[in-house]
This record gives sequence, C-alpha cells and structure tokens, in this order.
Amino acid sequence: MKIGVFDSGIGGLSVANAIKLAMPEHEIIFKNDAEHVPYGTRSLDEILAFTLPVLQELVDEGVVCIVIACNTVSTNLIETLRKLIVVPLIAMEPMVKPAAKQTKTGVIAVCATPRTLESRRYAYLKEAYAPDTKVLEPDCSNWALMIEQNKVDVNAITKLVDDITRQKADVIVLGCTHYHWIEELIVEATNGKAVVLQPEQPVIRELGVVLAEIR
Ligand code: DGL
Repeated sequence: MKIGVFDSGIGGLSVANAIKLAMPEHEIIFKNDAEHVPYGTRSLDEILAFTLPVLQELVDEGVVCIVIACNTVSTNLIETLRKLIVVPLIAMEPMVKPAAKQTKTGVIAVCATPRTLESRRYAYLKEAYAPDTKVLEPDCSNWALMIEQNKVDVNAITKLVDDITRQKADVIVLGCTHYHWIEELIVEATNGKAVVLQPEQPVIRELGVVLAEIR
C-alpha cells in the first residue's frame, strides 16, 4: 500500500525512514514544504493554507493514509484537516502522558515549536495527563530552522539540555520531528540524567492498526 508522510521540512523524513525500516512491504511517499518551512512560528491560517494542497497531492497520488509527521500541524489542525482530507490521518504530538508516568523527580521538559506549545491540544495533554508534574518548556524556537539548514549549534543545545537537567527534569520529550535528527546529541548532553522520548515507534504501531483496518 502507499502511505503518505508529511512535514513542513526534513523532520518528517526521519519519521518516513523509520516507517520504511519497520514496514518495507509498503511504499512510503514523503512530502514536505521546503518553501515555507519552518511552520512553528507561523499563523495557523498560513499553516493550514500551506498544508492542505500538499496533503491533497498525496491523496491524488493514491496514498491510503497519511502520517502527519509534524507536531505543529497535528496539535493545532488535525481536527480541521480530518474534515477536509478523505484518507485517515495519523497525528504526532508531544509524549506528555508517558513522560509524566516515567518521571521520578516530577519534572519533565517538552522541547517543541512555539505554535505547538501554544496549542489547545498541548494544554489539554498537560491538564489531563500531567496535572502534578512540573513541565519545563525551554526556548527551542530556532531549532527547526537550525536543523533544516544543517547548522546545528552543538554548544547551545548542550547548554540548554544542561540547564533542563539542572532543574531536575529526568524526562525530555522531543515534541518536534526535526529534533529527532539531533536525538543522539541530546541524549549525550543529558549525561545520563534524563531519558529522551520521541513518538516514532508508537506512531508506527498506530499506523499498523490503521492499515489493518483498511485491508
Ligand atoms: N517538524 C515540525 C514539528 O514536528 C515543524 C517544525 C517547523 O516547521 O517549525 O513540529
């Protein structure tokens, strides 16, 4: 079957690669929006206007479902998009629930774009699943662009991670698929003081369930 994967930029490529590895029997079609990336600081109207035609292209190419490999789009627009796009859409969002379950210090950190951190969905996730957890939201607003342009500032990232762990966060959530590319760097920077979570494997499991229903 043909499976679509969408992101504003190269973040979704890491997700598409993980899906390819897990499901070699399927054809993975990855599309991004190189012209308008990054989305994380744009208005929701703009993000919707940019996202829709790309998703429609995927539908026209015959995909049976689409993984929205973008937390920014998923947390803000998934319900709207589900009304407009005819194939099932699988969302990716920050793993607040598992992080709140795993923390021993009661402090977690969510690294995500400004638009994701401002979304109602993210506010709901914190309220529903982490009411007693302290959630740090460090400023990662320039990370997506930095990664997109392959200009990763190792010192700045190391410093930010160090700052988070000093504040006792023992779980770090990667709430933007671009950050999957620097996962190892983040893990190293924690010095074993925090675990790093990102949702590729849960999303692949969910994709398996959706595909089984389509068959
Ligand atoms: N990779 C996307 C995300 O997961 C968006 C990054 C951006 O375009 O700002 O949020």
